[in-house]
Amino acid sequence: MSLPESVKNSLMEHSPQIEEKIISTLSLSKQEKLKSAMLYLINSGGKRLRATLPYLIGELLQNSDKSHYDVGAAIEIIHNFTLIHDDIMDNDSMRRGRPSVHKAFDVPTAINAGDAMLAVAFELISSSEFIDSKYLPELVKIIGGMVRRVSEGQQLDIDNENRRDITIEDYLYMIEGKTAVMFEACARCGAILSGATPEEVELLGNWGLNLGLCFQIVDDLIDVISDSNTSGKPIGSDLIQGKMTCMVIHAMNSVDEELVNLEAILGKGSGVNNDQIRMAISDLEKVGSIEYCKSLANKYYTISKECLMKFNQSSGFEVLSDLTDYHIGRIN
Ligand code: IPE
Ligand code: IPE
Ligand code: MG
Ligand code: MG
Ligand code: MG
Repeated sequence: MSLPESVKNSLMEHSPQIEEKIISTLSLSKQEKLKSAMLYLINSGGKRLRATLPYLIGELLQNSDKSHYDVGAAIEIIHNFTLIHDDIMDNDSMRRGRPSVHKAFDVPTAINAGDAMLAVAFELISSSEFIDSKYLPELVKIIGGMVRRVSEGQQLDIDNENRRDITIEDYLYMIEGKTAVMFEACARCGAILSGATPEEVELLGNWGLNLGLCFQIVDDLIDVISDSNTSGKPIGSDLIQGKMTCMVIHAMNSVDEELVNLEAILGKGSGVNNDQIRMAISDLEKVGSIEYCKSLANKYYTISKECLMKFNQSSGFEVLSDLTDYHIGRIN
């Protein structure tokens, strides 16, 4: 399922300004190999959702300008940095249909490129000619806090692998960090740059946070319900890696006896074949874990939609509303 037309058109409309900002910021590095590693993943594609979100929030509040592009480009660069490091941590060799950065280059270069991307994102914000300096302390606090929460979430994700005592609450806290806070930060920064009231900033932050929770639950579902053309990764890659996704946690807690097919592949790595993966997925279906996760995704979708409904139905509203609906539509 592709993005709704309204969202696609909006991403396309803002793309030239955002791409220009991203590329010029990444080109700050004068070291040629480092610069090409930094540009590689950006040039592999990606939706640029986080890049565009602050501007869309500005449109919702009917007060958007070029400062929204700068903060969006900075967060998108940080998102891409986390993906480069994530693929090293998850040992994933593909991203956006191409070899991941540590495969196209090497692990030390990929780590270094990620570090430099985090740095230039802050250079971009602090030297922006469009961001009013009175907002800088607040923006740096939000984005710095976001990066810390992403690292905390990533650490939990790694440490949770193959552990049998993880609860759904542990899982939700983990995905809040690794994924949802980035959407929250996009919304908060966008709102602040539009001069929103503290109540509006809070509401939009909650919209982003709950959308992000829904987004990651859907991402986890896609790993088992979609083919690799949709997910860009082999089916069941989270399972063989031993990721404690909401489905696995639910399955482990639903039955007393061992789910043999699931246990046979969980955390077993690349030696597992596709038939074994399919059998493990039927275990998840049998005990209702896929349905359970769909209802969990729905729960956060609903909270997020309720936050958005508090705003006037401007043109910006339509796009954000379609975007909120899109994620849940991918699994229904
Ligand atoms: C991927 O995010 C990382 C997750 C948090 C699941 P996206 O699916 O938004 O990635 P791109 O930027 O469009 O490639
Ligand atoms: C990615 O989570 C979160 C961050 C990069 C911070 P995942 O590991 O689930 O994302 P994918 O599935 O590789 O895109
Ligand atoms: Mg990953
Ligand atoms: Mg990961
Ligand atoms: Mg994933």
